[in-house]
Amino acid sequence: MIKKCLFPAAGYGTRFLPATKATPKEMLPILTKPLIQYGVEEASDAGIRTMAIVTGRGKRAIEDHFDRSYELEHQIQGSSKEALMTEIRSVITTCTFSYTRQMEMKGLGHAILTGETLIGNEPFAVILADDLCDNTGKETVLKQMINIYEKYQCSIVAIEEIPMDQTNKYGVIAGNLLDNTNNTYRVTDMVEKPDPKEAPTNMAIIGRYILTPDIFDIIRNTKPGKGGEIQITDALLEQAKEGNVIAYKFDGKRFDCGSIDGFVEATNYFYSKGSN
Ligand code: G1P
Repeated sequence: MIKKCLFPAAGYGTRFLPATKATPKEMLPILTKPLIQYGVEEASDAGIRTMAIVTGRGKRAIEDHFDRSYELEHQIQGSSKEALMTEIRSVITTCTFSYTRQMEMKGLGHAILTGETLIGNEPFAVILADDLCDNTGKETVLKQMINIYEKYQCSIVAIEEIPMDQTNKYGVIAGNLLDNTNNTYRVTDMVEKPDPKEAPTNMAIIGRYILTPDIFDIIRNTKPGKGGEIQITDALLEQAKEGNVIAYKFDGKRFDCGSIDGFVEATNYFYSKGSN
């Protein structure tokens, strides 16, 4: 039912300079796999085959990554190195990739709206590749969210409890518990990056969303918010006021690979897990 996944990938990744001077931050690897490939594999594991990527200037390496590389493939054919290409080969043969460019950096809401041309009028998933999720052996986080979507047919955000002093790094929600067994809340309020004093709770949105397509019109009418940017959190609040947003406390582990600490933590975690 959810057939497309949108990847906003136009940001500069300034926290990782100089690494991100000529390399998209989404291409930074955790071990040998670029962050965005983890995201694409998570979507693919959830049954999604259409990947829609919002890029920007200097992001061409992403397109090259999700394409054949005949010379290289020919070179390693029959060698022990060939196995290293199994996963990427599998996603590029089973999924399609389309791209559009966000020409100005006007926030996550604006990036999602830029992707409308690739999504059309249907519910869709959003993955922010710098939030890397590991499902710890069960269904992927996105798959878990699709299961919730199938039950409630409205927008879904993934949430996690964070230390109260970090609320200014996330969209934060308040809501009423819907179902104790699967950790779902009907969202009543959401605030983008509030000071701890103003935060309604410590339940933070992480970079996984299922959005219904009416979000596009709402974003079009959303004024710039925190940081002068068009925030998806503000647009979602409009849906939440109608009772149409559910927050889901997911089962799994998530790393903030947009920060150096989270990136190192993820690297150590996947190394210890023996993912490579
Ligand atoms: C974005 C969203 C924020 C959300 C976060 C998850 O912020 O604006 O609401 O909590 O992603 O990673 P960013 O990390 O792009 O500053």
